[in-house]
Amino acid sequence: AVERTLSIIKPDAVAKNVIGEIYTRFEADGLKIIAARMMHLSQIEAESFYAVHRERPFFNDLVKFMISGPVMVQVLEGDDAIKKNRDLMGATDPQKAAKGTIRADFADSIDANAVHGSDAPETAAVEIACFFPTLNIHSR
Ligand code: CMP
Repeated sequence: AVERTLSIIKPDAVAKNVIGEIYTRFEADGLKIIAARMMHLSQIEAESFYAVHRERPFFNDLVKFMISGPVMVQVLEGDDAIKKNRDLMGATDPQKAAKGTIRADFADSIDANAVHGSDAPETAAVEIACFFPTLNIHSR
């Protein structure tokens, strides 16, 4: 089915100047960028985006990293978009990410892991709404 997913190119990958290379991977796999914005997240924005992880031991480091520089946030649309994007990204820990995935190629650590992608339809809807009012999404 056609799905939408939220993708974030994290501060490490933006600093490495690989936004275009990552966009090319999305497009080559049939994912369409239907909304995008570059932003430097505030502490509040990063904490609320990652609210589900609030009790995890890595929460503070994660938030600190996510506000360390600009990020590129986009909505990807396509057949099976959520899984497709997660396959393109590779495992959360870049050490465990399969060869040829975004994280294997561009990530340095579990926090500086280049990209985020929604993990399920419910979280995708919440995450998209977090950054994009519907009038800023351009599916056609
Ligand atoms: P992301 O997909 O953005 O979702 C939460 C982030 O927390 C994850 O990618 C990692 O960058 C970061 N993180 C740090 N430590 C861990 C951990 N032990 N397990 C999962 N995520 C972690």
